[in-house]
Amino acid sequence: MANGLYTGIDVGTSTIKVIVAEYVSGEMNIIGNGNAESEGLKNGIIVDIEKTAMSIRKAVDAAQEKAGIIIDTVNVSIPANQLGIEPCQGMIQIQGANKEIVDNDVVEVISNALMRGLVPEREIISVEPNEFIVDGFPEISDPRGMLGVRLEMKGTLYTGPKTLIHNIITSIERAGLAVGNIVIAPLVTAKQVLSDQEREFGTITIDMGAGQTTVTAIHDNEIRYVNTRPEGGDYITKDISAVLNTDLKSAEAVKQNYGEASTERASQDEFFVIDSVGKAEPEQVSEYYLSSIIEARLSQIFEKIKGDLQTNRIQDYPGGIVLVGGTSAMPGIPELAQQIFEMPVRLHVPSELGLRNPAYNQVISTVKYVSSRSDIEVLITRAVLGDVPAPTPVYEQPAAIAQPAYVEQPQVATLESSQPAPLPDEDDEDRPGVVDRVRGLFTNMFD
Ligand SMILES: Nc1ncnc2c1ncn2[C@@H]1O[C@H](COP(=O)(O)OP(=O)(O)OP(=O)(O)O)[C@@H](O)[C@H]1O
Ligand SMILES: [Mg+2]
Repeated sequence: MANGLYTGIDVGTSTIKVIVAEYVSGEMNIIGNGNAESEGLKNGIIVDIEKTAMSIRKAVDAAQEKAGIIIDTVNVSIPANQLGIEPCQGMIQIQGANKEIVDNDVVEVISNALMRGLVPEREIISVEPNEFIVDGFPEISDPRGMLGVRLEMKGTLYTGPKTLIHNIITSIERAGLAVGNIVIAPLVTAKQVLSDQEREFGTITIDMGAGQTTVTAIHDNEIRYVNTRPEGGDYITKDISAVLNTDLKSAEAVKQNYGEASTERASQDEFFVIDSVGKAEPEQVSEYYLSSIIEARLSQIFEKIKGDLQTNRIQDYPGGIVLVGGTSAMPGIPELAQQIFEMPVRLHVPSELGLRNPAYNQVISTVKYVSSRSDIEVLITRAVLGDVPAPTPVYEQPAAIAQPAYVEQPQVATLESSQPAPLPDEDDEDRPGVVDRVRGLFTNMFD
């Protein structure tokens, strides 16, 4: 990918996180970041566009100040709620006189795979080719430069709920920004946080946020299962608040300052004080008691996930579990998870200076993914969009950040079988859907 500046945004239930990174010769350095308390989301989903836009603006302003640049475009990750995953395939005849496969042929074969109808409430987010096939020769990762008369592509199509995508795009636009690439949150996390072997032989990531927990199983380099549960760190805070009769702010503070994931790690002799409603004097609470509240909730969340994984026959994944997200910063959580899941568990903490907290994983993974895409990945993005991408960012660019045009996107993923070419989608929205844009591209190409 081209050298330049790249921005990412994670619109989370508790915090909006923004980073600005400089990508030079394959190396990414974060030059600024900004956070803002998130208002307008519930359980990972935008419920108030105006409030979300205001929170986004605050986080972007903070990042601009730190980075010393003006941000005009952001790359955003979309949560995996109701993510649809299905196989897709396309086939075209090579048109060029010398039958050498060029960029446009790749765009065309991807576009051909997208010529399918979707129910009106869904939108294509991205396509991941598994292989290209040239004149029957399979397993080609990049067919450009090869000779052939027939080009096929077999891949995976990701779709998401229009409303979810629309709300994120609209909130960003209302904050005065343009949307660059749209990526699917657990997919970019898997690509950035897991090793090639982990993705191939099977690994489960669990993103423990404030409002939701997303469980994703990756095997053979593909998402085999994804599920979002509407419970996260906020539940733990609410439990502490209810049991200790204290407000949410104090509950959050003691959780982060004294919390341990299990009583095994907590001391019965260490105490902290907390203001309790209806008590004139602050109450003394043992760390052990606090941890018993935390452990009860975490165990419940993990047991439910374990049950879901068993029901879906997600087992014997040698890569075990990788924890990300702010709630996984709770000391002792990998050990508790390991006991419950009975498989290896590791915690992923980003290594970037100043951002060494698992809550930053998503935004960092988004920027790393977008900035390190290969040529062919950018081309595929362009095919999904059905238009020409914006110019790649220019390193010398002084203020505003130009970014390539966008891609990709986001409760239990539906793994569907390949469908016959269905009815066209009558899109009633002003903004043309991806399918419409692809149709437009086809019309132009054959004119
Ligand atoms: N040290 C800590 N110990 C325990 N919990 C923590 C700690 N630090 C942060 N958290 C919790 O992490 C959560 C925030 O994590 P994160 O930023 O990943 O969530 P989010 O992205 O805003 O929400 P979501 O992904 O659910 O939309 C909050 O519930 C917060 O209380
Ligand atoms: Mg999150």
